[in-house]
Amino acid sequence: MTKTSLPIEVRGSARQPLGMSPAQFLRDYWQKHPLLIRNAFPDFTPPLEPDDLAGLACEEEALSRLIIHDERRDRWTVKTGPLSEEDFAKTPSENWTLLVQDVDKWDADVAALLESFRFLPSWRVDDIMISYAEPGGGVGAHVDQYDVFLLQGLGQRHWAISDDPEAPTDFRDDVELKQLKHFEPTHEWLLEPGDMLYLPPGVPHDGVAFGGPCMTISVGMRAPSRAELTGDLADYLAERLADEDRYRDPDLKPVRAAGEIDRAALARVRDALPFAALDDATLADWFGRFITRYRVARAPAAPDKPIAEAAFAKLLGEGAPLLRHPWSRMAWARGKDGATLFANGQAYPAPAELAERLCAERTLDAGRKPSAAERALLLALVNDGHLVIQKGRRR
Ligand code: SIN
Ligand code: CO
Repeated sequence: MTKTSLPIEVRGSARQPLGMSPAQFLRDYWQKHPLLIRNAFPDFTPPLEPDDLAGLACEEEALSRLIIHDERRDRWTVKTGPLSEEDFAKTPSENWTLLVQDVDKWDADVAALLESFRFLPSWRVDDIMISYAEPGGGVGAHVDQYDVFLLQGLGQRHWAISDDPEAPTDFRDDVELKQLKHFEPTHEWLLEPGDMLYLPPGVPHDGVAFGGPCMTISVGMRAPSRAELTGDLADYLAERLADEDRYRDPDLKPVRAAGEIDRAALARVRDALPFAALDDATLADWFGRFITRYRVARAPAAPDKPIAEAAFAKLLGEGAPLLRHPWSRMAWARGKDGATLFANGQAYPAPAELAERLCAERTLDAGRKPSAAERALLLALVNDGHLVIQKGRRR
């Protein structure tokens, strides 16, 4: 991060949660500089109660952690969920926090917060994590590898960050939380409900609940590492290459130096690798599949019995709404003829306009009668579990 004369603190409004246009935010701050937006969500009330969060943390399938800090001895204990009522009964009166990931998949009101982040590609958004903390509670100073928007939901949180590009990032080896050994803040703020702190990847930060119960809503992004991209693309390409398709050297000349891997051999190896010849269509097909299953904790389950075409047409005709499954992750790409919709690693031929709507809207309002191609896509998505028919409901 280079030093900048841009303000690090701005004021938002109902019209501009970022305190500026999305285009300006992306140009000046996104992936570059931290930004505190006071009043990003005016008169904010959290979409769920602390008790709802605790209840969710007790669910078998939810990803949760309870973190208690023994301040006197600087010892941290981490208990991963599912948690029980006894776990909460045993918590001290302060210095603890509960974190629950993927809350957007469990709660439609939480998922609705993502509407304000539509200026980002939806496949770039990972999840909404929500934390509840008693005074002094937090996860300690750390860095994240992903951009994050930290929206204060309830109570106050003290945030300290460092925008020093030289800040050391070595971790404490006595704590499983990947906490920083050294942390010297350059900026500190007290956030009130509705204030939001944006952090690009790699900015050391520490958030501590202040004064009373505190809820923080983290909208987290995801970015595959180049190593993950390379490994997955290599697998994708390898699966499509025949075993007989091998290293060839019909132009071989008599060996001059025993054992030498000469330039001609290197050129043949390069030709044998499919990366250089990768065309846009293949790249899009691989990336769409990859990014829609990357870091997905769960996948929607297909219905027990597939629904038949005629029964589906009837339900659509009756106006039954189609709800996108919360664990369905979609993206799409245009191709030479039409488009492809990707959902949790699968690819479906799709009319572009419908693919866009499927990514944008959680409840599909078919509006006009779908064409045969649209109906075929919707039926395939229903039978793979990505769309759920709300029987007995009318739009
Ligand atoms: C939180 O404790 O709510 C935020 C955790 C973080 O800093 O990533
Ligand atoms: Co963090």
